[in-house]
Amino acid sequence: MAIVSSSSGRKSPRRETALVDPQPAPEEQVIRPDDSLRPKRLAEYIGQSELKQVLGIAVEAALGRGEALDHVLLYGPPGLGKTTMALVLAEELGVKCRITSAPALERPRDIVGLLVNLQPRDLLFIDEIHRLSRVAEELLYPAMEDRRLDLTVGKGSTARTRTLDLPPFTLVGATTRAGSLSSPLRDRFGLIQRLEFYGQADLEAIVARTAELVSVDLTAAACARIAASCRGTPRIANRLLRRVRDVASVRQGKGTIDDSMVAEALSLHRVDNRGLDASDRRLLSMLVDQHGGGPVGLETLAAALGEDPVTLETVVEPFLLQQGLLVRTPRGRMVTDAARSHIAEAA
Ligand code: ADE
Repeated sequence: MAIVSSSSGRKSPRRETALVDPQPAPEEQVIRPDDSLRPKRLAEYIGQSELKQVLGIAVEAALGRGEALDHVLLYGPPGLGKTTMALVLAEELGVKCRITSAPALERPRDIVGLLVNLQPRDLLFIDEIHRLSRVAEELLYPAMEDRRLDLTVGKGSTARTRTLDLPPFTLVGATTRAGSLSSPLRDRFGLIQRLEFYGQADLEAIVARTAELVSVDLTAAACARIAASCRGTPRIANRLLRRVRDVASVRQGKGTIDDSMVAEALSLHRVDNRGLDASDRRLLSMLVDQHGGGPVGLETLAAALGEDPVTLETVVEPFLLQQGLLVRTPRGRMVTDAARSHIAEAA
């Protein structure tokens, strides 16, 4: 039976359970077993101590009551471990994690397929949740709040509303743009947590852990340099480690990787001593050289750099803001004195 549209109405005329064929939606990605580098449990997850504490308590309480964990919204810049945390939560809860992203849920049947296939207390992870379509969002409201799926079946005068009961489940939404979520959606999350950039010590521990898992031998100085050069982001740290390993295997074959080998790899990939990459420096240089340091509006800056404003705002800028190299003012972006000195040194 075709599902034409969804309804967010509160009345539920009739309950029916075999309305939708319980086939996994094609967009669904079940956990990838080869994600072997990700920490599996909260105890292995390095950093984000406040987040771990809050979620650890929520998990323990949910397990104690035999209930599904409350819905969780994770937000923050990319690469800080939102997907990893969702997988960790599923592992801690002893349930399956279904992974998808909002752009894959364009048609009502996409989200319906996922929801009707959930087992009790399963976790559904939706990445980029700020990009959900209106239809998908409206289907989610009663699903999140009342474990109910309201569907309109059929067309025109034969259209009928059907309601399906859903098992208790946990929605984990992830976004780089919490402000872009509609407030009805945001309000349905019981836990709303921000992921922060990682500090040097945590990053060193993450690099050392990954190096061990991939059997790469690093000196402490080499490890520290990678950690200092990854924009506070584990995903970048692990990517840099792979690039360092490439350079080392070409230059020296096997053997311990030292600081100078890391420096060579970083310079090859144009990562500087503050961990800034070419896009970061281009943004700062553009502001300094062509706009006297700013202020410049986001759209103007993005057009001048040939970048998408959303990418600039969510991927490039957060680390520069956190490092005190850039400030946002009501009149636009401005560089700081620290950025001016850094750009002058790098020139
Ligand atoms: N690898 C990537 N992120 C990590 C984290 N937060 N803890 C442990 N290993 C990681």
